[in-house]
Amino acid sequence: MHVTVQETGPLTTEAGAPVADNQNSEQAGIGGPVLVQDQSLLEKLAHFNRERIPERIVHARGAGAYGTFTVTADVTKYTRAEFLSEVGKQTEVFLRFSTVAGNLGSADAVRDPRGFALKFYTEDGNYDLVGNNTPVFFIKDAIKFPDFIHTQKRDPYSGSQEADNVWDFWGLSPESTHQVTWLFGDRGIPATYRHMNGYGSHTYQWNNEAGEAFWVKYHFKTDQGIKNLTAEEAAKLAGEDPDSHQRDLRTAIERGEFPTWTVQVQIMPAAEAADYRFNPFDLTKVWPHEDYPPIEIGKLELNRNPENIFAEVEQSIFSPAHFVPGIGPSPDKMLQGRLFAYGDAHRYRVGINADHLPVNRPHATEARTNSRDGFLYDGRHGRAKNYEPNSFGGPAQTGRPLWQPIPLAGRTGAHEAPSHTEDNDFVQAGNLYRLMSEDEKTRLIDNLAGFIAQVSRDDIAERAIENFRQADEDYGKRLEAAVQALRG
Ligand code: HEM
Repeated sequence: MHVTVQETGPLTTEAGAPVADNQNSEQAGIGGPVLVQDQSLLEKLAHFNRERIPERIVHARGAGAYGTFTVTADVTKYTRAEFLSEVGKQTEVFLRFSTVAGNLGSADAVRDPRGFALKFYTEDGNYDLVGNNTPVFFIKDAIKFPDFIHTQKRDPYSGSQEADNVWDFWGLSPESTHQVTWLFGDRGIPATYRHMNGYGSHTYQWNNEAGEAFWVKYHFKTDQGIKNLTAEEAAKLAGEDPDSHQRDLRTAIERGEFPTWTVQVQIMPAAEAADYRFNPFDLTKVWPHEDYPPIEIGKLELNRNPENIFAEVEQSIFSPAHFVPGIGPSPDKMLQGRLFAYGDAHRYRVGINADHLPVNRPHATEARTNSRDGFLYDGRHGRAKNYEPNSFGGPAQTGRPLWQPIPLAGRTGAHEAPSHTEDNDFVQAGNLYRLMSEDEKTRLIDNLAGFIAQVSRDDIAERAIENFRQADEDYGKRLEAAVQALRG
């Protein structure tokens, strides 16, 4: 490990005064009680008590690195985003990888989606793409997210993740069948963060100078090759080296082996969305490549480790609502919920001035708002006026929205998704199953059956299996037999 030895002056208090003794507290006589006047002791104990901040409610466990994004294709006919404006253009990035369900100290080598949260420090402000290593997700409406995560986390009574809760929810949420098939397949436990793909997962909007809108999906294809762990390999590694993924990323970068990803997008002209064969804003589905072939647009490289994990990784914040001109949201119901959830989490977890921290603030421009004060305000605005409009030369609105408006019709209401010919929760799960080799299918069935067999009630197991049968008859049949063999 790279360690720097520094020339320093004496140890000091937080106020900078020299500390005389850091081994012995000040006492009232030899063997006597400790004195309140030993402020360096009291300050040390008090600071220590406040070292932790709330961990992320999901994706608590993670590792991050800085790097560079380089444009490799001309995409100006699709987006006016400045950082994508020229082939060869480079933008600094910070990427945080994570697992989802585990707490802060949990093991890396587990079956769980991996977070792939990418911050581009662009000249138009920070653009965050907060994705996963899976192109789809378990649910398609944000209103179900807290319930879903409750089933993945610790049960209120047992304090552990419970198979009953997981399979009860998935069985009653057939839209999860595609993602669950993905998760229990070979890619469910990546060998390292370097050997997996990343996906923006949602559909986002790009818009060009002429005001035309496109729907896009992002793909980050690992150049290291995909490498996964089997359930047995993962269980062993998680026990022997809980920090395996974090260590792998850090040491690879220290060795100068900078991981890279080839960045691709799928692009749908906005007018094609309404008549597409399924709802293109449904996060439980991929866009088949034959419909919208991926186009290569860039290269992502990670090449610098953070110096301080707490400051730069734990306190880093990413929000799907951080857009830049030329990029915006889609009407995906999950994404719409996320646009609220992250900023709210940051204000709770790191504080109202979280975006002042070096890792979070813009690097290629500066934030010019009229927001002021609050805990840990850094005084960045000096004496500048704090209102707008003003006649003192303060920053003013541009009048140009970041993204294009979308046409709408109809009534408000808690609607189900619009119906397209193939709006069905099982087609793509079945396609994924049928794509698998015989060996892969066997491992998938074993992984699923081992977990489903742990539920306490037959009806929960049956409902869960029924979803896989809907996806593919053979899938359901084999799973049922495997679960029965284990449950006896
Ligand atoms: C983290 C909410 C769906 C990827 C988080 C956090 C919240 C959250 C509150 C913690 C943020 C923080 O404390 O900094 C939600 C909600 C969702 C949702 C309400 C659904 C409506 C998704 C989806 C993806 C995703 C679909 C991926 C496609 C991530 C990642 C992180 C995260 C990568 C970690 C970010 C980091 O490294 O700091 N999510 N999430 N989430 N979420 Fe979501």
